Amino acid sequence: MRTQKLRALAAVAVFAVSLFATSAAYAAVEAAKASITFDAQSKVFRLDAAGVSYAFGINDRNELQPLYWGARLAASDALPPAHTFPDHASFDLTQTTTPQEFAGWGAGLYVEPALKLTFPDGNRDLVLHYVSHQTTGNALIVSMKDVQRDILVALKYEIDPATGILGRSAVIENRTKDAVVLEQAAAATWTLPSDKNYTLFYLTGRWAGETQLQREAIHEGARVLESRRGSTGHQNNPWFAIERGVGGDEDSGDVWFGALAWSGSWRITVEEDQLERVKVTGGFNPFDFGYTLAAGAQLATPVFYGGYTHEGMGEASRILHRFELTTILPQAPAPKPRPVIYNSWEATEMNVDEPGQVALAEKAASIGVERFVMDDGWFGQRKTDHAGLGDWYVNPDKFPHGLKPLIDKVHGLGMDFGLWVEPEMVNPDSDLYRKHPDWVIHFTGRPRTEGRTQMVLNLARPDVREYVLGFLDKLLSENQIAFLKWDYNRNWSEPGWPAVGNAEQKQLYVKYTQNLYGILAELRAKHPGVEIESCSGGGGRVDLGILHYTDEVWPSDNTDPFDRLSIQNGYTYAYTPGAMMAWVTDSPNWANRRTTSLEYRMLSSMQGGLGIGANLNKWQAEDFATAKRLIAAYKSVRETVQHGSLYRLISPVGGSEQSVTESVSPDKSQAVVFAFLHSSSLLYPYPTIRLRGLDAAAEYRLDWIEGKAAQPVPASASGAFWMSHGVDALLFGDFQAAGFTLTQVSGKGK
Ligand code: GLA
Repeated sequence: MRTQKLRALAAVAVFAVSLFATSAAYAAVEAAKASITFDAQSKVFRLDAAGVSYAFGINDRNELQPLYWGARLAASDALPPAHTFPDHASFDLTQTTTPQEFAGWGAGLYVEPALKLTFPDGNRDLVLHYVSHQTTGNALIVSMKDVQRDILVALKYEIDPATGILGRSAVIENRTKDAVVLEQAAAATWTLPSDKNYTLFYLTGRWAGETQLQREAIHEGARVLESRRGSTGHQNNPWFAIERGVGGDEDSGDVWFGALAWSGSWRITVEEDQLERVKVTGGFNPFDFGYTLAAGAQLATPVFYGGYTHEGMGEASRILHRFELTTILPQAPAPKPRPVIYNSWEATEMNVDEPGQVALAEKAASIGVERFVMDDGWFGQRKTDHAGLGDWYVNPDKFPHGLKPLIDKVHGLGMDFGLWVEPEMVNPDSDLYRKHPDWVIHFTGRPRTEGRTQMVLNLARPDVREYVLGFLDKLLSENQIAFLKWDYNRNWSEPGWPAVGNAEQKQLYVKYTQNLYGILAELRAKHPGVEIESCSGGGGRVDLGILHYTDEVWPSDNTDPFDRLSIQNGYTYAYTPGAMMAWVTDSPNWANRRTTSLEYRMLSSMQGGLGIGANLNKWQAEDFATAKRLIAAYKSVRETVQHGSLYRLISPVGGSEQSVTESVSPDKSQAVVFAFLHSSSLLYPYPTIRLRGLDAAAEYRLDWIEGKAAQPVPASASGAFWMSHGVDALLFGDFQAAGFTLTQVSGKGK
């Protein structure tokens, strides 16, 4: 936290914010500018970027009060100053009827607070008032302080010039002489324009059934999205979107959306208060929180990102995708495309050894795979999931000469090498646990609940942090490893940290995740070429916090290509396909026994980062030929699929018989379409596929990746033709798929 003093307010300070560096892929994006202004007379702060304006003011009580969040306003528009709202009878006083940017719990506040604490003398009243502000680069920092005690809060607002996405967070500082206990600490409260008619979208799921899109009308009361699990969780994902009206239109409609960058327990509360004002408060989960903030100490909250568009749910996710690619991901602003990988898990499970992996690697290389990843089973005494986690030495029976011969072989085949690790876990049957039984998260003397016969190491402990960082650094230093699949296969139980005093125990909820991020950051700095995937039994740890340190995520252990359509669909509302891995595995699928063609499986996976996870030892010559052909086709479209603009043309949810996605390259020179038929019934024809996002005046050539047209179409036609006339794909039967590209042959992109 900055120790700024109260300063006289400048007349009208205008701070131009320089353009964020953009990737070559976004060269087409017009030079964007953001501005942050403060009008000293009206006491209004205003942030403008891309299509968004955001404003708040200092009201007559000296609170920070939200004023506007929505479509960009004219620079000349003067926002009326903030003014406190009146009491609503003696039951809802002005302190609760007046919305605040970041409300302390005190003075008759009944709506969701951003910060709640207890002082050692029993006082639990906190009223935060404006003190000062300053701008640094593209960020505005506003300092607040309790009306009496030295509890300070620095609110940070950072706006992305290219997308208008605003990152909000807070640093809470205790300048009193004694420790205080924080019971609730959010990153921000977002206040929507006053309106009765809003629809909420959010993502729910479970292991092997992640990111299912939910929608419901917002009514008075609160909808709580959360994880109490110590990590992000499969159950809810920290993302929301709110659309004005009944919503759901991909192309039009006012949409406000947000995502919390935190991989520990989190909570987002979507609340419509008694005066029908909708607010969204998100940050650390207050459940069992009780964070002791020592005298002089600070706590930084995660960042809660928020954005707005008037172009519907489709544009909301395109904005988020672009933001993730250009500012969140570790390789931002120009992430390398995801290579085509092979992963051994479904083929060999833990029965890995050198000859078996070499045999798979040779076959993988023959179809165009670029990265060979050996999954679980290579270390310690790992034969089943009952042993080995924690002992990160190469198993000498399976790899008598270490990993080098396999890695050399993989390199000789023209691929790089990746390895599975699960650094935060330990099996009781391991040397590590026998030596350090106190290193796991537990309560003294209480049973230690096991999940998959494993326990969670307490990463908040400095010695555990050092051990985990040490073995990973050694592994990467001693072997030529290009990629780590970083797994995390259970959630917490008995969340105790007995080694510290009772007062500090609950800091586990924060320090664990801080140390996880710290380890990832240090590893990346020491081994800059290494890429990392976040996996947690599939998509149990996917959020904007972990995506800052990992290049990709594994969205689900469910590799059934039909189930994947709805998992991938939900995923794309919040996250870029450029970080979404999708493997082609065997049929019938291990999870649900569904039988599908290799073409269907390939096309389902080609909508993200393509991987092959099948047992290649069982493949026939025609399978190799099909995979080789489609992997080659994928390589010619992957830049567009991973880094382009995604249009969800037909949604797979709600019992739909079809689903269609389209990706358009940033310069609009290429579009890629994948179309799926789940099941024909009653001889209904497949709906005409009308494209989006093309250059209407340019000429595009149609090429089929798989399948063909049901009705004759010209070999090439204008963007207007493909967007308005469209294409009829010949699809009937069950679990059928088609794919095609449109390539600009004349026009601006040429
Ligand atoms: C988790 C992952 C799988 C696989 C196994 C290995 O379930 O999600 O992909 O790596 O662990 O044990």
